[in-house]
Amino acid sequence: MRVCKTKFETGTALAEAGREKRSVGLVPTMGALHEGHLSLVGRSIAENDVTVVSIFVNPTQFGPAEDLSKYPRQLEDDLRKCDELGVDIVFAPEPGEMYPADFSTYVEETSLSKGLCGASRPRHFRGVTTVVTKLFNIVKPDRAYFGRKDAQQAAVIRRMVRDLDMDIEIVVIPIVREADGLAMSSRNRYLAGRLRAEALVLSKAIARARELFAAGERDSDALCDAVADVISRAPDARIDYVNIVDNVTLEEVDAITGAALLALAVFIGDTRLIDNCVLDPSHSGDTKPCSE
Ligand code: PAJ
Repeated sequence: MRVCKTKFETGTALAEAGREKRSVGLVPTMGALHEGHLSLVGRSIAENDVTVVSIFVNPTQFGPAEDLSKYPRQLEDDLRKCDELGVDIVFAPEPGEMYPADFSTYVEETSLSKGLCGASRPRHFRGVTTVVTKLFNIVKPDRAYFGRKDAQQAAVIRRMVRDLDMDIEIVVIPIVREADGLAMSSRNRYLAGRLRAEALVLSKAIARARELFAAGERDSDALCDAVADVISRAPDARIDYVNIVDNVTLEEVDAITGAALLALAVFIGDTRLIDNCVLDPSHSGDTKPCSE
């Protein structure tokens, strides 16, 4: 496995890997890799000749009061995991390699990125679309892999790729969860003891909504109220949002008539967690909790 710190080295490593004749898969990450990330990596390895994983805690997607400085960084451990899986190239740049001091160009999706997480994190998706575009330009992948854990992010990136005619297939992979239901996240390591236990209210609330949906409930307010009710049982939980939106347009829906996304963001103590599931009337018999 080649570990590249610069764009130039990455280009050379790709040329040496014979990229011209082979398919390249890219898995963008911010590191602190867990099984969720590794499921994307496994899929890329299965589908491409060459897999590139990027590990970069991207400053432009963090708000001024957010956790950029304390975001977990554990490159050695991440490299070992990538090597074990059979990753070909890791691109792990320093911030200065990606953002020169006079950097002044951003890529912004202006519709899907406004609601849900975009409402409380106004510059977040601009940072994501900018860094992902840069990674696409550096690696020039045939396919890029994203998790449904960040459903809005995946939708925004699909839209960007379509709108800007980027010739890259976006593959979106189901949420990987801990055995007790908590969606895996690098931020879960902020949670200890009581807070880790309280974080289960997110997946429990989703399971409750799925139960009601399977029993025929289609009213968004009723489903969101049931979700809020489960979350209120955790004393350290504070809801950022609970919303039901169209699964494609991300516009709010009052009643579920087609595939809808139930999405939530909840602070457990100081840690902001997100989770979601698709509620699809054409698959309403499926009552498996938290399934994708
Ligand atoms: P990060 O949070 O490290 O996540 C990298 C990728 O892993 C994302 O596509 C995310 O959706 C996916 N992922 C995270 N947890 C997952 C889980 N439990 N199951 C399945 N997939 C999961 O998302 C980012 O980084 C950044 O915004 C990035 C796209 C790298 C741009 O900086």
